[in-house]
Amino acid sequence: MIQISEISALETFKVRHPVLRPGKPVESCHFDGDEFLSTRHFGLFVNEILAGVISLFKQHNAAFANDNQFQIRGMAVLENFRKRGFGEQLVLHVEHVVNEQYGNLIWFNAREVAVKFYSNLGYMIVGDAFEIPDVGTHYKMYKILDQNFGIV
Ligand SMILES: CC(C)(COP(=O)(O)OP(=O)(O)OC[C@H]1O[C@@H](n2cnc3c(N)ncnc32)[C@H](O)[C@@H]1OP(=O)(O)O)[C@@H](O)C(=O)NCCC(=O)NCCS
Repeated sequence: MIQISEISALETFKVRHPVLRPGKPVESCHFDGDEFLSTRHFGLFVNEILAGVISLFKQHNAAFANDNQFQIRGMAVLENFRKRGFGEQLVLHVEHVVNEQYGNLIWFNAREVAVKFYSNLGYMIVGDAFEIPDVGTHYKMYKILDQNFGIV
């Protein structure tokens, strides 16, 4: 059974750590703003095992003119659970949440290896590649949302 639920920042570390910060201290999994009330964390459970996580930050980026922007951070699926559509389900879930909050743009810094995954979900690159120390080459990506989607 597949289920996506809201989880705590601390719970995301179970997936963030092996996937995004392997070999680094577990404290390195903490992101600034993780604990803000406006930040939300979601986990995808497969038969009650936490297999993937995604976090949504209410974060404005001056690269975009839109007034109600959200940032995706900490997107990660455990290696054994990849290529089954779970990553896509997590992104679609936060898109729905953003729509419910009348958000009109989602942006994030994507690892180079994940650019194709996000492009397939309709995200576009803006600007040039840039380096994040210790992590690697990234691209800023974004998607403008249809504000009627998901609102009943
Ligand atoms: C990027 C990441 C989150 C994707 O998670 P995922 O669960 O594998 O995502 P999906 O299964 O939805 O899609 C991944 C690929 O599998 C393909 N796929 C989905 N279901 C499939 C299936 N049943 N059979 C075969 N392939 C499938 C998708 O088409 C997609 O292909 P693409 O990469 O060529 O676009 C995951 O690879 C990951 O955690 N990577 C390491 C951390 C990382 O890079 N995070 C992003 C930081 S910006």
